[in-house]
Amino acid sequence: MLDIEKIRADFPILNQQINGKPLVYLDNAATSQKPQVVIDSIVNYYTTINANIHRGVHTLSQLATDAFEQSRIKLQQHFNAKKSYEIIFTAGTTHSINIVATGFTSLLQKGDELIVSAMEHHSNIVPWQMLCERTGAVLKVIPMNQEGELMMDEYDKLLSNKTKLVFVNHVSNALGTINPIKEIIDKAHQFGAAVLIDGAQSCPHIKPDVQTLDVDFYVASAHKLCGPTGVGILYGKEAWLNKLPPYQGGGEMIKEVTFEKTTYADLPHKFEAGTPNIAGVIAFGTAIDYMNGIGFNNIAEYENELLQYATKKLLQIEGLKIYGTSNHKTSVISFNINEIHPYDIGTIIDKLGVEVRTGHHCAQPIMGFYKIPGTVRASFSFYNTFEEVDVLYNALIKAKTMLS
Ligand code: ALA
Repeated sequence: MLDIEKIRADFPILNQQINGKPLVYLDNAATSQKPQVVIDSIVNYYTTINANIHRGVHTLSQLATDAFEQSRIKLQQHFNAKKSYEIIFTAGTTHSINIVATGFTSLLQKGDELIVSAMEHHSNIVPWQMLCERTGAVLKVIPMNQEGELMMDEYDKLLSNKTKLVFVNHVSNALGTINPIKEIIDKAHQFGAAVLIDGAQSCPHIKPDVQTLDVDFYVASAHKLCGPTGVGILYGKEAWLNKLPPYQGGGEMIKEVTFEKTTYADLPHKFEAGTPNIAGVIAFGTAIDYMNGIGFNNIAEYENELLQYATKKLLQIEGLKIYGTSNHKTSVISFNINEIHPYDIGTIIDKLGVEVRTGHHCAQPIMGFYKIPGTVRASFSFYNTFEEVDVLYNALIKAKTMLS
């Protein structure tokens, strides 16, 4: 069992008032809060070893390089990548997806088909639409049902020898659905298609094993799992990363530059042009250590208890409808109350110290499917408590009374 009070003491931000009320932070799917060790890791880097990496023979540069590369090893171990250089540090999930989508430009032909799901974040739709515009490839969509689950028999019908790429999120940010990614990957591979999994919303709850999944690309952001903003990873199988051209040109990503011809560095540097977010990468490693110290099985178990409790409690509110009712969910509850606009609810409960996300959650096709402008989304983390669910419930009752 987790000692939640002890865990909460690790997060300085949680111990404050918002609008004169104790903070109840339930917007963890947007970004997680940071434990003191992660904050310290950033401060320590700038206080003691700040220097550019991979560039100097001087001591500080070597210390910074070692700490940076140590993070790569931590991430390799966390995701169980075969090689450390299969972990590319990026600015976040969106950046990672754009690296792959841009890289496929020269690998596709007119009429090739790409498969996406109906429940994607815009960051796993728009870069691929841009790829289709560049290449003449065609985007096909796996539909979902009313529960917010992918219709896998429809996926079967979309797959063919024309399919070159499939990209699906592991967990939906707007609904919380956990998708059957192993099945999605295996089926795509039967047709020789590559698969990219958007792990932005799964990684805070689930520890993925990229070798067992046999996934071609897996992408995630540090800030959703207790790390800093502006840093993420692109995991790619070595063969794929070698096949893709570099995304950006610049320093660090070259072997040799002449005006006649430039040759590119080996992995991972080929994809890491420019000075990276050094402090962010180091703190990402600290965050991964912190979360593994708590244990992903413990996190998933506790968050599921919170989810079950909150679901039951919120459904006691007359007129409250939950979007995303799959049995396979992370701790996200997206809902509306009658016809009340989500922004109005969000604004009132903020006055009561409760922070949730409202709107389309960068997933407009999902809102289009349900014919709603948006939802209120409460997303729970392992540092949230059952008492905070009660505060949310009472705040919603108050908001409903005021707005009805
Ligand atoms: N993608 C993040 C969310 O779902 C920002 O809120």
